[in-house]
Amino acid sequence: MTAIDWFSLLHPVLIILFVYPVVGATIRLGILARERRLKINPLPPSVGVEHADHGRWVTTGVVVAVLVALLYSYASRFLAPSPPFAGGAPRFALLVLVIAGTLASLLALWRVKTPNLRASFALLTWAGILGLGGQGEIWRLSDNPLSGAFWSSHYWAGVALVGLLLFATAAKQEIFRSLRMRRLHVTAGVLSAVLLAVLAITGTRDLLEIPLSWQKPVIFGCNFEARICPPPAQPPT
Ligand code: HEM
Ligand code: HEM
Repeated sequence: MTAIDWFSLLHPVLIILFVYPVVGATIRLGILARERRLKINPLPPSVGVEHADHGRWVTTGVVVAVLVALLYSYASRFLAPSPPFAGGAPRFALLVLVIAGTLASLLALWRVKTPNLRASFALLTWAGILGLGGQGEIWRLSDNPLSGAFWSSHYWAGVALVGLLLFATAAKQEIFRSLRMRRLHVTAGVLSAVLLAVLAITGTRDLLEIPLSWQKPVIFGCNFEARICPPPAQPPT
């Protein structure tokens, strides 16, 4: 494996090693926070606070891992000998700058307190990811919600999850204070848990489908619709 192939593993490794274990703890603490609210279990208010703190780390981990995946997709195409990267080095530098800007607005979301600023930085982070993901280099399977491929797209499930997590992080104070927001949050939380399962399945599928960098010229010579590849070269005698 070359350096760029190892880099392609960074996104799944970050998710498996850091995000999914914290997701488990977040869901458990969320259930405990609910049991405390419904007086099923006499627990201290700290379970709710701990749940929200864990949730914030899940959001941060997911956004960072998604930015790493996007950076890999651009870098692997930029470094490939052919075809040439559209827009060349200036466009690549601009994309890296947008990645840095998206990361900065996520960090700002941790710091700001007023509702307007929290909503603005959450939206800015999501807009950054949507803008970066909308580029031609990113494999999205389908952009048409009426096609089956759209619903099995790893990319679209990923950006939907990022949106839900950013919403919960931005609305933390309101979820603590209002029953209506808590109900909305539980619905969004169940959807997030389903998306996390979908992402584990589609991500592993994609890992199986993406060839190593030096195998790409041969593998991309295959007809993916008909599932036929050119006959292999004769082995050296
Ligand atoms: C996998 C994602 C998540 C799930 C499944 C989830 C689930 C839950 C559940 C079941 C509750 C209890 C609601 C109730 O009392 O009826 C809750 C409360 C809460 N969640 Fe989440 N949550 C998730 C992510 C997040 C995130 C990312 C944040 C924000 C950083 C967050 C912030 C909160 C807050 C502030 C409360 C109120 C705690 C309290 O009542 O003491 N959650 N969540
Ligand atoms: C919270 C869970 C996850 C989220 C939100 C997520 C999100 C994303 C997004 C938005 C992309 C598109 C970016 C691009 O194509 O460059 C992507 C790419 C990719 N994801 Fe995930 N993903 C998650 C989990 C996983 C898991 C568990 C695996 C594998 C075990 C995985 C494997 C991949 C692969 C192979 C790519 C292609 C690009 C690359 O290798 O960096 N993902 N992911």
